[in-house]
Amino acid sequence: MATVSVGTDEHVVSSPPGPRGHWLWGTVREFRRDILGTMQSWVQEYGDAIRFRFFLHYYSYIFSHPEHNKYILQDNNHNYTKLPSPTLGLLVPLVGYGLVTNDGDSWLRQRRLAQPAFHRRRIERFSEIMTAAAELMVESWHPVAKEVGSIDLSEEMMRLTLEIVGKSLFSVDLTREAETVGTAFLAANRQFRDFSSHPFGTWLMNMPWLPRTRRFMRNVALLDRIVNGIIDGRRSSRDAGSGASEDLLDLLMDAQDAETGERMSDRQLRDEVMTLMLAGHETTSNALTWALYLLSEHPHVREELEREVDEVLSGRIPVFEDISRLNYTNMVLEESMRLYPPAYAMTRTATSADVVGGFHVDKGAIVTLSPYLTHRHPEFWDAPEAFDPQRFTPQRKAERPRYAYMPFGGGPRMCIGNNFAMTEATLILAMIAQRYRLDHVEGHPVDLEPLITLRPRYGMAMTLHER
Ligand code: HEM
Repeated sequence: MATVSVGTDEHVVSSPPGPRGHWLWGTVREFRRDILGTMQSWVQEYGDAIRFRFFLHYYSYIFSHPEHNKYILQDNNHNYTKLPSPTLGLLVPLVGYGLVTNDGDSWLRQRRLAQPAFHRRRIERFSEIMTAAAELMVESWHPVAKEVGSIDLSEEMMRLTLEIVGKSLFSVDLTREAETVGTAFLAANRQFRDFSSHPFGTWLMNMPWLPRTRRFMRNVALLDRIVNGIIDGRRSSRDAGSGASEDLLDLLMDAQDAETGERMSDRQLRDEVMTLMLAGHETTSNALTWALYLLSEHPHVREELEREVDEVLSGRIPVFEDISRLNYTNMVLEESMRLYPPAYAMTRTATSADVVGGFHVDKGAIVTLSPYLTHRHPEFWDAPEAFDPQRFTPQRKAERPRYAYMPFGGGPRMCIGNNFAMTEATLILAMIAQRYRLDHVEGHPVDLEPLITLRPRYGMAMTLHER
């Protein structure tokens, strides 16, 4: 599809087709009911570029062709900012202006500062934290498996990935806080979904006396307590002269502006820690939960995975160097994130009018890109709903455009934690497959819950069988 940049011919290009919805409510109700199903049905009806009326006179866009993704995330990314945005703006009370929600020079400074914590050498060191935590988890499953009992896999994965992100980036053990983080974050997630799909969400969020706003802020306060505890704990240990941890928290606390010598404000530090704690565990946890669910539904894929894990590891705990040989494990994860991308949608604001894929985009419009939609695009994926890790052989990957697959986004705002996440998920999946077969409990409902990330609405009940 041709991509044309904005120019003097702006007036001759048309807007993309799309639904106008109810005369007053626009399409708000469809979104509230079923955001993924609604977007999919529109793609079938209108194609890769859609302009829809969200509410009253607020129009919004959805683009799903790989060329559109490339243009918006990479080629003309300067025109597509995160802020101001009515949707992302709603996340500010929770994560402030941390890396995910920040923009412009302030974002660039913070990104450069955080980047060293994600270098390959660091991730190699983190891999020991990852396997040690995973080993404790698989050990703790032993008594359950003996009785062929079941676990909530989603909870287990959340707890494990939170522990790993806490130990790796902040050198703290968050296992005792896991339940509070899990409950408060899930509640805040659901409240965020309600605000963001409400026509007056932004106003409601700014009315602190409303019960629903008070409930949301109570959950934010719970998470704040944990984040402030991490920061205060580090301050005390630094004041007491204990050796530097040289982790991400130290990097952030030591950072000084080259010109003014100023350090990061307490607020900015809090925002970054909150952002990384949340972005760094829930996504990977969902990726693993969906992968293990898909494996339980596709026994032949699971057997192939077990063969690889047994051959590469011969029963020992994996180390970082094994990752490059766990190819099929990696392919299973990639295919799982194709079908269930944890970050199923990304939004941007068009700072000036533009032309995308031959269609006009209004200045100030909200533009949504969706890995969930692009990963099912029939031009790039045969039988898109089928689970088939063979799609990710090196040869078949090379045949597809880069932006046909984007679980970690792309361009300058691409996920900073992608290598961290893939290392972690590969090691954990291999360690689970090495010891157990997990079967989805028959009758337990499986439903997608698209909140900030794509979660299983009712958790994931799994029976454990020792191999
Ligand atoms: C399977 C796991 C993960 C997935 C699918 C994922 C997905 C994404 C996506 C799609 C974005 C881009 C959002 C956008 O462009 O609007 C993003 C950004 C980000 N992710 Fe991840 N992520 C994962 C794991 C992680 C981990 C482990 C960390 C940290 C430890 C992390 C930290 C971040 C941060 C800080 C950003 C914002 C980057 C920036 O804008 O500079 N993510 N992630």
